Amino acid sequence: MSNERDLMRVVIVGHVDHGKSTMVGRLFHDTGSLPEGKLEQIKAMCERRGMPFEWAFLMDAFQSERDQGITIDTAQIWFKTPKRDYTIIDAPGHREFIKNMITGASSAEAAIMLIDASQGVQQQSRTHAFLLNLLGIRQIIVIVNKMDLIDYSERTFEAIKAEYVRYLDEIGIVPNFVIPAVARDGDNLVHRSERMSWFQDGTLISALDSFQSQGDLKALPLRFPIQDVYKFDDRRILSGRIVSGRIKVGDRLMFSPSNKVARVKTIEAWNAAPPDEAGPGQSIGITTDEQLFIERGEIASHEEDAPIETNVFHGRLFWLSRKPMTEGETYRLRMQTRDVQVTVERIEAIYDPDALAQRPAERVERNEIADVVLRSYALLALDDAEKNQRTGRFVLSDGANIVAGGTISMRDYPDQRKLVTIRSTNITAVAHRITNTQRVSRNGHKGGVLWFTGLSGAGKSTIAMAVEQELFRRGFQTYVLDGDNVRRGLNSNLSFSPEDRAENIRRVGEVAALFADSGQIVVTAFISPYRSDRRRARAAAKDGFHEIYIKASLETCEKRDPKGLYRRARSGEIAEFTGVTAPYETPESPELTIDTDKLTIEESVAAVLEYVDKTFRKHS
Ligand code: ADX
Repeated sequence: MSNERDLMRVVIVGHVDHGKSTMVGRLFHDTGSLPEGKLEQIKAMCERRGMPFEWAFLMDAFQSERDQGITIDTAQIWFKTPKRDYTIIDAPGHREFIKNMITGASSAEAAIMLIDASQGVQQQSRTHAFLLNLLGIRQIIVIVNKMDLIDYSERTFEAIKAEYVRYLDEIGIVPNFVIPAVARDGDNLVHRSERMSWFQDGTLISALDSFQSQGDLKALPLRFPIQDVYKFDDRRILSGRIVSGRIKVGDRLMFSPSNKVARVKTIEAWNAAPPDEAGPGQSIGITTDEQLFIERGEIASHEEDAPIETNVFHGRLFWLSRKPMTEGETYRLRMQTRDVQVTVERIEAIYDPDALAQRPAERVERNEIADVVLRSYALLALDDAEKNQRTGRFVLSDGANIVAGGTISMRDYPDQRKLVTIRSTNITAVAHRITNTQRVSRNGHKGGVLWFTGLSGAGKSTIAMAVEQELFRRGFQTYVLDGDNVRRGLNSNLSFSPEDRAENIRRVGEVAALFADSGQIVVTAFISPYRSDRRRARAAAKDGFHEIYIKASLETCEKRDPKGLYRRARSGEIAEFTGVTAPYETPESPELTIDTDKLTIEESVAAVLEYVDKTFRKHS
């Protein structure tokens, strides 16, 4: 609850012989976290049995108590510093740990990687590093243990450090601290080592205490998923459990994904006087100043720190079912109090920790870790797992069975909130006096949108301009809206970030719909890489929308490279370039596909014209 001490879960990884138990035993002792009499008890036992005391025995003792079910806290052991409490999680190479991490059963926020100064970096340490990276643990301390075996040598330490840091860098990890230690004697764990006075960068504990904790849920943005809506008299009470952040009477709340806004009038607690505020873990109800129609599944937040709205995201999941996951399959997605259908759009990769590699795959088998793209029809309110480990998670079910748990990444995908938030109020539509029939009858053809989509260099602009010329010659009312042109005026304030591309397409979709309504055949030539955006453009122009996929392979486009942009993208000069460092989602069911790998420009233009002839004549 909100007044508890901050808690951080730390996973220790390292080769079995590198001194894990010794380090943990010593850490407990030096932080004063051992239960009263524990150390004496074990020392006495050693004496009785005539063996020298070792710190690792403490761990063994905890372990056997745990096995016999003596300790209350069965799964975890913890120590404390003045700053916060720590829980140690062991056995990281273990499937169970990976499963728990990915499904959220337990979540480590930091890792201690233990290596043996006399042994250097071994394969197992590499595997562990690979896994930590996969699991998204970004706060890492490397302990170079058993420094006594190399005579506390700064030079040898620096050499080991350099080798390991270089290796970690290759797999995308930057350790925050690399600390020389003698765990057995406590050097640089809690107390600075006098024998290694050359090392000035603090201790294991000072390093841990410097890390950020998500355990402090009240410091995170407010996430209050609505579980139920009760009606009493004329009041509606929105009830649920606060996941993170704080809520106060008078706060302006945003409900996602409906984007409705209201102020908190009262907070209702069960069997208690109404509190002025509430925090993480508390089950409460709220009433609002305006009566909103809010349903179960919405998430309340503050306006300025709202969750992401999207219908597509990357999921890194752990597959639990005997029945493999395949592309195109649908499952129920559960997040907080929301439950919707999703389709597996793509299996991006399967991870193989033993080979330290990922590979493409068509199916995900039981106990495999995979990156996938999931898409829903409805908009979802969610967070990137990096921002909020709780609301950045999901569970998939198939019928009554839970088949996967995973974490969310929004890499490459835009937050669609701005696109769907309506800010214009007090608007009344005005009717035209000219009917659509009158326009068609004067022009001799219907208005509509030929929506070209495809990679840069696929031929969109070239074909569009030739189609416009020929349609004009034949007496059609026509105009091309081209990406490079529109981005010089109407959309000159938009970049190529996912959000700005989405806004680019939203505006063009609306403008194209207006052109079509005016009776013109408008040809749009935009990459328009996201399906969601094209779907919105279709909704704007309704029946008049025709999606035309100008198809060409990335290789072809790069070879053509008419503007030299691919070359610059490859050299890193242009970021977020479609097909290279930004995604392109191919159309699922376009009205027409023009494959410019196979067709000449003339043939392509002819194919579009034939389609127009068929579709836009007065009587068709
Ligand atoms: S879209 O993705 O938002 O639909 P749009 O069609 O408007 O893109 O603009 C694409 C054109 O902008 C390309 O043909 C290319 O000339 C230029 N361009 C500049 N930077 C980029 C980039 N990072 N990605 C793609 N196109 C870019």
